[in-house]
Parts: sequence; C-alpha cells; structure tokens
Amino acid sequence: MKPIQVGLLGIGVVGSGAFNVLRRNQEEIKRRAGRGIEITMVADLNVARAQELVGPGVTVVSDARAVIANPDIDIVIELIGGYGIAKTLVLEAIAAGKHVVTANKALLAVHGTEIFAAASAKGVMVAFEAAVAGGIPIIKALREGLTANRIQWVAGIINGTTNFILSEMRDKGLDFAVALKEAQALGYAEADPTFDIEGVDAAHKATLMASIAFGVPVQFDKAYVEGITQLGAADIKYAEQLGYRIKLLGITKRRQGDVTKRQADGIELRVHPCLVPAKRLIANVEGAMNAVVVNGDAVGNTLYYGKGAGSEPTASAVIADLVDITRLHTADAAQRVPHLAFQPNAMSDLVVLPMSEVVTSYYLRLRVADETGVLTKVTGILAEAGISIDAVLQREADEVCGESQVPQTDVIILTHDCVEACMNAAIAQMQALPTVLGPITRIRKEELA
Ligand code: HSE
Repeated sequence: MKPIQVGLLGIGVVGSGAFNVLRRNQEEIKRRAGRGIEITMVADLNVARAQELVGPGVTVVSDARAVIANPDIDIVIELIGGYGIAKTLVLEAIAAGKHVVTANKALLAVHGTEIFAAASAKGVMVAFEAAVAGGIPIIKALREGLTANRIQWVAGIINGTTNFILSEMRDKGLDFAVALKEAQALGYAEADPTFDIEGVDAAHKATLMASIAFGVPVQFDKAYVEGITQLGAADIKYAEQLGYRIKLLGITKRRQGDVTKRQADGIELRVHPCLVPAKRLIANVEGAMNAVVVNGDAVGNTLYYGKGAGSEPTASAVIADLVDITRLHTADAAQRVPHLAFQPNAMSDLVVLPMSEVVTSYYLRLRVADETGVLTKVTGILAEAGISIDAVLQREADEVCGESQVPQTDVIILTHDCVEACMNAAIAQMQALPTVLGPITRIRKEELA
C-alpha cells in the first residue's frame, strides 16, 4: 500500500522533531501502522532553513495553503500555534477533507467546539495528543484506556516551566523572579512567559482534559485561572514544614450536587497553586517534568508522568496521532474514537461551576501583631463561618518592626473543606481586623487521596 502522505505546517522545534523521529523509526512505525507514513511537504516562512532540515526529497513551500491544496496529502500537521492563522488553516484543511494533527492547545481550548464540529461534518479526524502534557499519552489514556470508568477527577502538573520555577524556589529558596530568570536562561520559559506563569497554558490543557473526562464541550472561558506570580518563598517553606509541597495544578472534578446544601451538579475547572501532601507521588515531580493523576471509579488513581515539552517528546505524541489516523482513516467515521471521547450526540450539559461554588481546603497565612487575643479573633471568624481548622502554625515573633513597633508574626492556618464563597467572606472579615497587618495569603489545598 502506498505510504500515507503528510504535510507539515511549521517546522520549528516540534516539527523538526517529528520529521526526524518519523525518519529514524520509519520501519518500526510502518510495522505498527500497517503502511508507511511520510512527511512529503512542508510549509514554513523560512524556506531555506526548512529545506536544509528536511533535505532535497521533500517539497518545501512558504505558503501553507499549497500544502492544503495538494490532493496527495492525506494528513496536515499544524504546528504554527496561536488562535489566528492557525485556526483559519485548520478549518481550511478540514474543508479540503484532510485529517489534522495539532499540538495547539490554545486553539482547541478556545475554538474546539467549532473545529470538532467541522471535522465531524466532513468525516475527518482532528488529533491532539501533543496538545496536553507533551509526550505523555494522557489523551489516549483518558479517551480510550479508561473508558470503563466514571472519571471523578483529574489533577495535573501540566506546565513544565512553572514546575521548574517552583522546584527551584523550594530547593534553593529562590524568589519567583530569580527562578523565572533561570528558567528563561535554560530555555524552558518562552521569551514572553506570560501564558506559562499566569496559568493560561495549563488552563488550556485542563480545559481539554475536562471535556474528555466528562464529555462536556470545551469551555476555556469558564476556567478559573491563577498563576504563580504572587507566590512567596515563605509560603513554600511553611507548606514544607506542614508536610506539603506547592504545585501549580490543573484540576477538573465532577461535583455531585447536594440539594440540602443548595449545591447543583457540576464540574470544577481550575488552575491555581495548590498545597499537595508531600507523600503523594505527584508532589515529588520536579523540574520541567509533567504528571497527571486521574481518578476513576473502577480503577482508582492512575498516574502518568513524563516530559511535557521539548522536540522529540512532543513529536512522540504527534506521530502517535499520525499512526492512529493511518490505522483508522478508512474506518466508518461513526466507529472511530470520538474527538472528545463521548459521541457528539451524547455530550453532557453539566455546567462548569463558578469558582465561588468550588469546595476545597485552604492554607492561609496572616501577618499579625503578636498580641493577646489575635488568634482567638481569627479563629472565631472561621468558626462563625462554619470553617473547620485542620492545623495552626505560629512562628516566633520577629524583631520589633513597623511604625507601631509592635512585634509581628506569621500565623499559618490549614482548614478542612469549605465552599470558596464562604472562605472569601471569612478572609474579608479577617482582613478588616486591625491586628492583621498585611494582605492575607490564601493557597488552596488538595489531598488527592
Ligand atoms: N510552555 C509549556 C510548558 C510547554 O512549559 O510546559 C508547551 O505547552
């Protein structure tokens, strides 16, 4: 059988990795796919550089539309990124009857509904294993390996840059800004690392995992997103003393409503720094590595660990998608694995809950005047709000400082689960106490048991 012909849009770090791995392992891949898979055409603005990378046997053009228009091309790989021209080209490739492979989480998290609908109408596949956690086959695991399960929750370290920064802050006691500079020097963070450090990249990935876990449409706009820019080295140290590590987690959870508490059924979808018990495997994922824990009702917890970025790790996921499509593209479209794991006519209308309705536990750090009765007032407010305290840590008072010359200290409180709105109200009340001397730090906590 003649090889499947692939057109590549954008030959940067991941594209060149895909080209090299496909060449290097072509025999092995052919034995798996049942026929050869060849990248025969590449579009890149830098034609000379691209031609040098792929050699003379491959056609290189500057116009991506020439790849889409080529009737010999069966699959288009989109590695341009972003929501702009990438979206136009993906939709044009689908309209031309091409299957699409993409690593573009931003595009799918924001425009996935439109793109998957267009692909279904045209009977082509849009595969995106590389879009979430790079080389880790988490899409495959959620969509196929765990199909027996009612998924309860997914929690992952799905941004390597921020995990590297947090690891450096903990290991070396560095401040955020210093650790970020280090990440940039090592090439982990982008020149503009905003999407990484503000949690947006992780939220794109969590959005896709939520859809596949629960069979809901992609809804990035409903995700709660909080990055790591406000994290202080002190909180990382205190968390450690309490037996926790702080990780930036992408979390999506099914919430069973409770009418007595006026809670509706829904889905939590959130990215924020999180205290995780140090004894959990995921708490020990260090540096730029990624890991995802999935909890299913039948299987319990499963953990997936590996490189979430980089040339060949991400290429590994891109090529797995090429093999899947090669195996399946002659199959009846209705019998293929659905884009979002559930059949399009069986999607759920479960709502994504607002952050105020999320239930979790908390780490609070309060800078207080070291005076009689301060702790009583603070714990009194929590008790009034029905928030149960799990642990309290009080540091020795610092040297006399501030204009008031009153000794100050940090009080750290761990709470049991409560509703976010309730915690917001309690924090506002505590913040108003004259003996609370600075902004209260709140970090959410997940036991992941
Ligand atoms: N910038 C991402 C990370 C990799 O640091 O994990 C691509 O999503």
